[in-house]
Amino acid sequence: SRPGARNPTGQQRTMARAKVAILISGAGTNMAALLYAAKAPDCPYELALVASNDPAAEGLKIAAAEGIATFAQPHKNLDRAVHDAMMHDRIVNAGATHVALAGYMRILSEAFVQKWEGRMLNIHPSLLPKYKGLHTHQNAIDAGDKIAGCSVHLVTAELDDGPVLAQTEVAVLPDDTAETLAARVKFAEHQLYPRVLAEYVA
Ligand code: GRF
Repeated sequence: SRPGARNPTGQQRTMARAKVAILISGAGTNMAALLYAAKAPDCPYELALVASNDPAAEGLKIAAAEGIATFAQPHKNLDRAVHDAMMHDRIVNAGATHVALAGYMRILSEAFVQKWEGRMLNIHPSLLPKYKGLHTHQNAIDAGDKIAGCSVHLVTAELDDGPVLAQTEVAVLPDDTAETLAARVKFAEHQLYPRVLAEYVA
């Protein structure tokens, strides 16, 4: 049934939760934030799968301990298109309706992006369109920015370029290093991503 649809008596039907596959490559702290937010009874999404291109990604252990299905497929010696197709199959088989990229350090093939267009989000540690790609925090510090932050955006074929759904600004401290700024921006990321994903799927 359509999520949130009303029946003829005007009562709200039990909400069908969106099913989210999260792709990670590392620590998975944003994945964890999305996971813990999904424990709220009124959260409009649940985790269907946590998948990675790195079997050693720490986040896989966190997800598995929480009873979430996990999958890892190293990309080494695989065509990008082939690796993406393997990920796509698992995501579909897990019943996912949406994909959330959370520190997934792979450039995605156009075919994969097209399959999930409008249903795939990413979090990026800068105030886009500033500082696409890597080294965002050092770039912000080098530029003398007083305000850094993070963005959640829809994923399109261009790297870190899709429509921005929401951002959180984070003040840069005079003695910030890339590391201290990154750690503080992460707090903002962990608040922003669950809220924006929930709003988006609802
Ligand atoms: C985050 O800073 C995210 O914005 C970026 O990659 C990092 C992933 O960190 N895309 P984590 O694995 O969620 O801790």
